[in-house]
Amino acid sequence: MYVIRARQALTMPKDSDELSTFDAGEGLQSRDDRLVGLIEDCAIVVDEDDESIRWVGPFADRPKEVRGDDARVFETDVAMPGWIDCHTHAVFAGERSEEFMLRNAGREYVEILEAGGGILNTVDALRQTSTQDLKTDLVRRVYQSVRQGITTLEVKSGYGLTTTDELKSLKAVAAAQEDIPCELVPCFLGAHAIPRKYRHDRKAYVDLVCDEMIPKVAEQNLAGYCDVFCDRGAFTTEEAERILTTGEEYGLIPRIHADEITDAGAAMLAAKIGAASADHLEHSSDEAIEAMAEAKVVGVLMPAVNLFLGTTSELAPARKLLNAGCEVALATDFNPGSAMTQDLGTILMLGCTLYKLTPGEALRSITAGAAKALRRDDIGELRAGARADIACFGVPHYRYLTYHFGQSHAEAVIYRGNFVYWTEEADVEE
Ligand code: NIG
Ligand code: FE
Repeated sequence: MYVIRARQALTMPKDSDELSTFDAGEGLQSRDDRLVGLIEDCAIVVDEDDESIRWVGPFADRPKEVRGDDARVFETDVAMPGWIDCHTHAVFAGERSEEFMLRNAGREYVEILEAGGGILNTVDALRQTSTQDLKTDLVRRVYQSVRQGITTLEVKSGYGLTTTDELKSLKAVAAAQEDIPCELVPCFLGAHAIPRKYRHDRKAYVDLVCDEMIPKVAEQNLAGYCDVFCDRGAFTTEEAERILTTGEEYGLIPRIHADEITDAGAAMLAAKIGAASADHLEHSSDEAIEAMAEAKVVGVLMPAVNLFLGTTSELAPARKLLNAGCEVALATDFNPGSAMTQDLGTILMLGCTLYKLTPGEALRSITAGAAKALRRDDIGELRAGARADIACFGVPHYRYLTYHFGQSHAEAVIYRGNFVYWTEEADVEE
């Protein structure tokens, strides 16, 4: 048992009443403090044997067992739940800097995709890569995330698009999990693009996804979620509905890449089928936002995509979602085509500058909000009984995390009760 003593701890109560109470006036900071469940001079008591948090509250009130002179206390400025990057495509091969150049010279993302490039170029590269090499690259990437304070990373397949290559991607995720101090949350995205071979017979590909891939993914327990890219250039709402409901029959929780390029009706579909999340949402209608709030679908927003594709004039309706009562999560969308970054700290800053989120809203979105997008109760919150995934930062105030971007401020990262990363400045006993 040991204690983390934090000048500021953000407990991130999941059932906060403050989500839709934004007011730009004088109460801005105090409302943020309530939203993040701020406790000043806080003790977080960690039971490393149980991998869980035993107690959270003011340091002065900490339980007897951790009051003695021999109590182990780690001191930090800001402690909060380990960060959750709830939407990534981190298992990929190759790179697409050539497309990046072409896009900046005027070609559009969707044009490149419709011409058989984009995602399909990464598919070509991944099919030629072994499970072992995919795993090695993924492990290396995950360490980049851990150093920032990330303790849970969702990873989608979707660059295989054959049964063998989709399973290979998910097996690489499972193999990487053995070697890293961070939870990987695998998501099956066999419906990421129509493979070139099926361009004139889309139904045959959807059949393959439903009749062969989903049953095998479920049978081999390789993913807990099913996602579909539902948009122009990808899958229609009818196709997506069939794939996601089939996934559900096999126990896979539905999520959707929704309305990134056009209003394809995907956010509405997310509400109709009760998906855990609808992700992107740049072109979703007001009606769909209301329906999402009603159906408790989390809106996952990924501003790096707009920055990277140069579409900052087409931003997701973050404030509308919050005002409607939707939970919002920010994520990187880390992938070689539309968001080549793992930097969740920069995403926090973009959430504030582009979507005009408050620091508290942004920080909630990568902890409590992201946990909800994954329908997880055990992470994203500092409370007795939660998994002891804790990120500790050396910063003057918690809002500083959203402001000083482009470098990690983590001084210690705790995963399942164990210190898995710390800086030289952090006084961690080895
Ligand atoms: O979330 N939109 C679809 N999928 C990814 C892009 C994948 C890629 O371009 O490789 C996304 O943006
Ligand atoms: Fe994505």
